[in-house]
Amino acid sequence: MAAIETERLLLRRWRNEDSEPFGRMNGDPVVMEHFPALLSKAESDRSIDWIEAHFERHGFGLWAAELRATGAFIGFIGLAIPRFEAPFTPCVEIGWRLDPANWGRGLATEGAQAVARHAFDVLKLDEVVSFTIPANLRSRRVMEKLGMTHDPRDDFNHPNLPPGHPMRRHVLYRLKYPLP
Ligand SMILES: CC(C)(COP(=O)(O)OP(=O)(O)OC[C@H]1O[C@@H](n2cnc3c(N)ncnc32)[C@H](O)[C@@H]1OP(=O)(O)O)[C@@H](O)C(=O)NCCC(=O)NCCS
Repeated sequence: MAAIETERLLLRRWRNEDSEPFGRMNGDPVVMEHFPALLSKAESDRSIDWIEAHFERHGFGLWAAELRATGAFIGFIGLAIPRFEAPFTPCVEIGWRLDPANWGRGLATEGAQAVARHAFDVLKLDEVVSFTIPANLRSRRVMEKLGMTHDPRDDFNHPNLPPGHPMRRHVLYRLKYPLP
């Protein structure tokens, strides 16, 4: 689907103008605190290319999030098929990354609720998952507010990170259809 609307957000396909603000976010240590590395502008642009290719291939993806009130780009909220192998793959991940100026207003949760409904009602998926490092309490809180559940037996070592890396351990949350 091209776009999803919520009370305050438009979740839409990416535009060229998103490259600058998304590049600033991906180079911001506050945004990237729980990721292994900041992204250069070139890496950030490559990730937009990957996201758009995912939309073309699967018909869904990490939608660019725009504030309806101002039209400002504030990050992404959406769905992605992880490229690594783990005990819970293949799967569809629900994920989010927003500009810190807009944190704490319930926007990630609002957008993710609409994305989860899209995943179940339109795409007919029977489950979405989400994962992060244990210390990412903000993101875990969004997962909990969505009604996702965490079974510690699902926790895993991220295969893209080497043994001993401090961010290797991840917690996995699941949301199954029908929604609670
Ligand atoms: C995770 C992220 C998208 C959340 O966006 P947001 O719009 O602020 O999220 P919401 O406002 O919907 O919910 C955030 C919740 O976390 C809570 N929270 C904020 N800081 C917290 C902290 N240090 N510890 C615990 N909870 C915290 C908020 O109080 C809120 O919960 P509440 O509604 O019960 O009060 C945003 O912080 C972000 O982009 N982080 C960087 C990128 C990232 O880590 N993405 C996730 C990768 S898995």
